Amino acid sequence: MEEEVSLISSRVQRLQPSATLEVADQVMALKAKGVEVIDLGVGEPDFITPRSICQAAEEAMEKGFTKYSPVAGFMPLREAAAEFLRSYFGLPYEPSHVMISSGAKQAVFNALTVCLNPGDEVILISPYWVTYPQQVEFLGGIVRVVRTREEEEYRFTAEQLEEKINSRTKVIILNSPSNPTGVVYDRTALEVLASVMMDHPRLLVISDDIYCQLLYDNRKPVHMGEISPEIFSRIITIGGMSKSYAMTGWRIGYAAGPREIISAMISVQSQVTSGANSIAQMASLFALKNGEKEVRRMKEEFEVRRNFGYALLKEIPGIRCIKPGGAFYFFPKCSEFFGMEWRRSRKKILSSLDLCEYLLHEAGVAVISGDPFGGPDHIRISYAADRKVLKEGLGRIKEALAQLK
Ligand SMILES: Cc1ncc(COP(=O)(O)O)c(C=O)c1O
Repeated sequence: MEEEVSLISSRVQRLQPSATLEVADQVMALKAKGVEVIDLGVGEPDFITPRSICQAAEEAMEKGFTKYSPVAGFMPLREAAAEFLRSYFGLPYEPSHVMISSGAKQAVFNALTVCLNPGDEVILISPYWVTYPQQVEFLGGIVRVVRTREEEEYRFTAEQLEEKINSRTKVIILNSPSNPTGVVYDRTALEVLASVMMDHPRLLVISDDIYCQLLYDNRKPVHMGEISPEIFSRIITIGGMSKSYAMTGWRIGYAAGPREIISAMISVQSQVTSGANSIAQMASLFALKNGEKEVRRMKEEFEVRRNFGYALLKEIPGIRCIKPGGAFYFFPKCSEFFGMEWRRSRKKILSSLDLCEYLLHEAGVAVISGDPFGGPDHIRISYAADRKVLKEGLGRIKEALAQLK
């Protein structure tokens, strides 16, 4: 008898679809059925793209920027991204160190594709963005997790990193401000990592700085690359337009790093998607050059929401959460509710996934389980929603949790 062969490769069969996008689809389906849902699951600003940026896109179309773009991106945009990283972080990037891709997600994927051979190991600091482990494993890499805890404000130590490093370790992924915790690494935390890097000269860092402009409490931006020039040559910096410019749908991100790595990433992209959308690139160029005021306006509103939402969260019995220093997420610990009963369905809440299901169906609020972020005792609540929505959503969560016994 002939052996049955799956149409789908084993690599893809192992891939988990994005947990956050899955919740977004669920919310859309419920809304389409007329069910009212408060969506605190989304990882995107509720603002629409500023008008001036949209106008730049219209002008670009009129001027004929409707054709293929260079694979690495338009040179003025590469220059603008390099200039942003120079002025914001003080990093000595030139346009030749930069490539433009279709979103930061693709930039991370290009970087991992270039760096990893099957069996190479990648260190993630948990809680981490859901996409990292999936991309690493998809490429045949092995994920090693350094676990950090809410009680210790998610700090990692040199010993924890050293424990996970061996001759196969190729990359450490750093994300600050973090999705999902909102933690911002200060200079001391980055120095810990830098000191470990000095002892392991082949180790690379992917520094995902997509939320770098959403920093609160007057924090000053810091970057691994500022700490030591030796380490700078082993960093791939990831950035993008989605979060700070409210441009999630335009799909423009970038990577900056050593020329050898960037040019390999450009080769990968040349065979996968070609250059990113030309119109969106021109809009991004305008945004990087002229969008500072708009970024500040949105950031200030996110900070107000963070303060407002945090005060409400603290009033919910059984919930514990650090005050996020950046990005737009709360990542409260909610394991106190595990083992309690969802009376109407006579089910026990045994995990954060169960709790999310309970909140969606009993409170009509969408939040995301901490499981795929490597934080199974937590849920992720986005505050990229206006204050009225946030108040209603957190109020409903409080009420629903009070009913669990
Ligand atoms: C940490 C992190 N990196 C990268 C991305 C990807 O952003 P983009 O929309 O540019 O692909 C996201 C989006 O959620 C994110 O949270």
